[in-house]
Amino acid sequence: MIEKTLVIIKPDAVGKNLIGEIIARFEKNGLRVAALKKIKMSKEEAKGFYIVHKDRPFYDSLTDFMSEGPIVVMVLEGDDAISKVRKIMGATNPAQAEEGTIRKDFAENIERNAVHGSDSPQSAQYEIPYFFSTLEIL
Ligand code: CMP
Repeated sequence: MIEKTLVIIKPDAVGKNLIGEIIARFEKNGLRVAALKKIKMSKEEAKGFYIVHKDRPFYDSLTDFMSEGPIVVMVLEGDDAISKVRKIMGATNPAQAEEGTIRKDFAENIERNAVHGSDSPQSAQYEIPYFFSTLEIL
């Protein structure tokens, strides 16, 4: 099924100049960039984006990290895009990520883990409009 998913290249990876490398991995796996921009979130914007994690012990540290520098947000589209993106990214904790995945190659630790991808259609429905209007998704 053709799906759309929200992907973020996080501040650690943007800081290491990995934007092109990471987007290429998605494109080479058949995903298409439907929307893309570079932004910097405020702490409050990061808290809103990760609201589902508000009761987790890492919420404050995660939202500090996600607002420390620029990020690239994008909508990727393709067949089974949500699960495909998660496979290309690898496990949240890079110590458990498979060889050849983005997190295995570029993540620093479980928090500074280079990329984010929506984990379900419900998450994508919240996350895509958080950054993009319908007019910006092509
Ligand atoms: P992401 O896929 O963006 O979803 C939530 C984020 O919280 C996750 O990637 C990590 O950056 C972070 N995260 C998840 N679990 C932990 C943890 N145990 N400790 C610190 N950060 C975490």
